[in-house]
Amino acid sequence: MIWNGVLIMYNKVAEFIKDRIDMQPVIGLILGSGLGEISRTIENPVYINYKDIPGFIDTTVEGHLGRFVIGKCSSKYIIVMQGRFHFYEGYEMEQVVLPVRAMKRLGVETLIVTNSAGGVNPSFSPGDLMVIQDHINMTGVNPLRGRNKDDLGPRFPDMTYAYDQGLRELAFDKAEEMGIGLQQGIYAMMPGPSYETPAEIAMLRRLGADAVGMSTVPEVIAAVHAGMKVLGISCITNMAAGILDKPLSHEEVVETASKAAECITRLLLNVIQDL
Ligand code: HPA
Repeated sequence: MIWNGVLIMYNKVAEFIKDRIDMQPVIGLILGSGLGEISRTIENPVYINYKDIPGFIDTTVEGHLGRFVIGKCSSKYIIVMQGRFHFYEGYEMEQVVLPVRAMKRLGVETLIVTNSAGGVNPSFSPGDLMVIQDHINMTGVNPLRGRNKDDLGPRFPDMTYAYDQGLRELAFDKAEEMGIGLQQGIYAMMPGPSYETPAEIAMLRRLGADAVGMSTVPEVIAAVHAGMKVLGISCITNMAAGILDKPLSHEEVVETASKAAECITRLLLNVIQDL
């Protein structure tokens, strides 16, 4: 049964990775669609394909590779997830957060998460980067549901400071030094995989969301549960449904993300340097 499998799996996955590296990553990075560029800057990279890890599942989405890249980046040891597991692919929330828990077991203390998101705040434009200040979980499910993993964290973790203020300030400082603009706002996770209706986007706006996507929230909940510091950055790849009078397409999302990839990569390199 998945339930028991995942319970013990994060330790096994961590052991599998540990056996293949001779360093201890302290920073974990999860990259969204088309945002994988930073992996190319890693010195002496070790690649571990998800499909080679017992119990892991390969990702299916276009623009997502399925592997860990581990090595040195801005003089820090990091582990990068190139491609993540999405709830809309049919995985259980526990499966979606398995890599985050394995990272914790490897010794990762800081998790940086990037994603592609639709702009709900009408003052945003495609190509903008948004530091996630907080999130709204619209999926109705939670990765911590079920028996608590006491070895990872508490039954009722506090989510008041889920997105670390110091890390957010660091991102803004670095963006200013680099002369790039940065937005800040609330990320709402919808289950997907259909994009939202204009009525749903109008609802999310009223609820206080600035951006909408189909990822990130489960991983952040698991990271906070396990006592990790989190920085989240959304790439606004399109305006959400109904904000503009035109349809949404996955191609547009991937194209805008790949255009923004260089900028987000430079920002992350600068942030990682100061961690
Ligand atoms: N909605 C949901 N997820 C997304 C979007 C969107 O508009 N753009 C990129 N990911």
